Amino acid sequence: MADDVNDAIDEETAESSEALIAVHWREEEYYDPPAKLTAQANASSPAIREEFTEDKFPDSFTAYADLLTWYKRWDTVLDTSNAPFWKWFTGGELNASYNCVDRHMETHPNKAALIWIPEPESEAHQAITYRELYVRVNEFAAVLKDLGLKAGDRITFHMPMVPELPVAMLAAARLGVIHSQVFAGFSGTAAGHRIADSGSRVLVTMDGYYRSGDLLDHKVKADEAVEAAAKEGQEVDKVLVFRRYPGQYSAETPMVEGRDVFVDDLLAAHKGEIVEPVPLAATDPLFLMYTSGTTGRPKGCQHSIGGYLSYVAGTSKYYQDIHPDDTYWCMADIGWITGHSYIVYGPLALGTTSVIYEGTPNYPDAGRPWRIAQQLGVNIFHTSPTAIRMLRKVGPDEPAKYDYHFKTMTTVGEPIEPEVWRWYYETVGKREAAITDTWWQTETGGFLGSTLPGVDKMKPGSCGPAALGILPVILDEDANEVPAGSGKAGNICIRNPWPGVFQTIWGQPERFVSTYYAKYNKDPESKDWHDWPYFAGDGALEAADGYFRILGRVDDVINVAGHRLGTKELESAALTVNEVAEAAAVPVVDDIRGRVVEMYVSLKPGYEATPEVENKVKRAIETDIGKIARPKNIWIVPDMPKTRSGKIMRRVIAATSNFTDTGDITTLANPEVVEKIRQQVQSSKVAKGEVPRELSETELHEIRSFGSE
Ligand code: WTA
Repeated sequence: MADDVNDAIDEETAESSEALIAVHWREEEYYDPPAKLTAQANASSPAIREEFTEDKFPDSFTAYADLLTWYKRWDTVLDTSNAPFWKWFTGGELNASYNCVDRHMETHPNKAALIWIPEPESEAHQAITYRELYVRVNEFAAVLKDLGLKAGDRITFHMPMVPELPVAMLAAARLGVIHSQVFAGFSGTAAGHRIADSGSRVLVTMDGYYRSGDLLDHKVKADEAVEAAAKEGQEVDKVLVFRRYPGQYSAETPMVEGRDVFVDDLLAAHKGEIVEPVPLAATDPLFLMYTSGTTGRPKGCQHSIGGYLSYVAGTSKYYQDIHPDDTYWCMADIGWITGHSYIVYGPLALGTTSVIYEGTPNYPDAGRPWRIAQQLGVNIFHTSPTAIRMLRKVGPDEPAKYDYHFKTMTTVGEPIEPEVWRWYYETVGKREAAITDTWWQTETGGFLGSTLPGVDKMKPGSCGPAALGILPVILDEDANEVPAGSGKAGNICIRNPWPGVFQTIWGQPERFVSTYYAKYNKDPESKDWHDWPYFAGDGALEAADGYFRILGRVDDVINVAGHRLGTKELESAALTVNEVAEAAAVPVVDDIRGRVVEMYVSLKPGYEATPEVENKVKRAIETDIGKIARPKNIWIVPDMPKTRSGKIMRRVIAATSNFTDTGDITTLANPEVVEKIRQQVQSSKVAKGEVPRELSETELHEIRSFGSE
């Protein structure tokens, strides 16, 4: 027994030092910010950093809070009395819906708040002015109020990319109802788990929406969601169904009598009604956003009204460089944090015009985004490396055919390869636009690392320096600081709280502390923020110039197309298949989506590896999580490579799937199985033409250290 424990400890230490593998990190050249951009930028001089230095913290962030309209000003900027549950702007009162709608309706009612582009090009776009937004938000708030919903209640949305989604969010925010929007591409079951976890009794959905030319039946997922939630003891009383074409039902799935209601019918009964925004405490929750972590259960990240809204308004101003007359398009999904912060709350808090696109970027062809940009005069563009890689692959010459001019372009969610960065800069941006590569997370509410577009030189592959007021540090496993320019990687942490940081994990405060703050805290009783570095869960490297290169997750999370999928979630889905004894998910480098998932399973005695079992595993993952998580390959193997303490060595199978060196396998309990698996997997991949290109330093680092936490 004692020996086993020692073995396990030895293995763990060997592995964590391996996470700091020395790699030679090539430095990229710098690009200057465009002079024309600098001349008009909200942040036009490096002097702005002086206003956010450590000695000015936390008061420096009142500059962000001052972008909002408060019913009552705060008494305390940062309250640390219940560390690490930071409270920002305590004593202050405000309403997010008022800040994003009413106050702009008063000053510029006829300006477009949202422009919605339906996927079919035959359908005209819809511009929704601030006045119209005001009317629609009020009417929907009246519907919610009529259902008895009030401040502090939760409501789940499972909505596609339609203007009804921001309307619903802002209506909930008006009442203080905490919204939880689940990405429409997630399965009904996944939505059901989130309904149950948040304790929502109302689900808002839509009958259908367009993706790649098809009008999908989305309502069917609501039935699955309600059923899954009920299994976990959460009853849903009402399902509100928006109709893609009001008055006409676009789904096949029947409406359930007494439970399901068409929203257009309800709205008719509340026409022109006004619901005054409720003044709420700055520290009250605005929404939950679920994300994956190391365990099977997704975490509901709880964001505050005052701190969050201040932070997204401030970062939208300085990092997106949003001015009142800009037309801003973030081609992401509102179902993720990017859409919450930088399609809805940040841009609307600043009173700009935010574009929403329903469909896939390359539908009907790879020129679509650039046609939209030309037609609407979009001048700020924002998307993910996955979308950029895809558009570059299918339409490398398309941008040149359209007459649009971007001043800034953002990328978010994954590392961007320098070659892809250069295509974005030269071809999409026509060398006129600054690129901001923004590093942040669902938990962090807004950007943590990025260049200031009008100020800083850009360096492909690095997100840039810390965002204003953010104090990062890279620590090794023993909490020693890894100095800038040392060429060594470590765990990136943020030393100080900031207003956008999430408040807790809904219903799991211990998990909040243990996952994000316990690792480097030496005194759990401390009320001093200096004692509570935020552990981001990303490996990173700081260059001598203070720019950060993000290397990816250090936990068991796979970033597919910029979306986090927990290996445990994938594995538990696979384990619901009766034949499966063990399952392990690993990342495989993919030229478009960054990473895709491959699943290794071993079967219970007496079962044979058949295509049918493979299909069952695939279906289980699609049902539990959604199509986004569908593995590229499922390998049914005779046994998993394991340590002597029985832990599956994910880095060994990850290396196999990626054709890289498996490293030292002599400490395994069953080293002989490694070669068997290698032959099985790699010969089959060679036959399918799936041999990857040579991996970059960042990719190699991730594969070699995968699963070492
Ligand atoms: C990764 C998305 C490199 C990182 C806003 C992080 C990035 C996770 C970048 C959060 C970037 C995000 N460069 N990696 N610019 N931005 N990541 O919660 O691993 O969906 O921890 O939030 O994505 O993903 P999430």
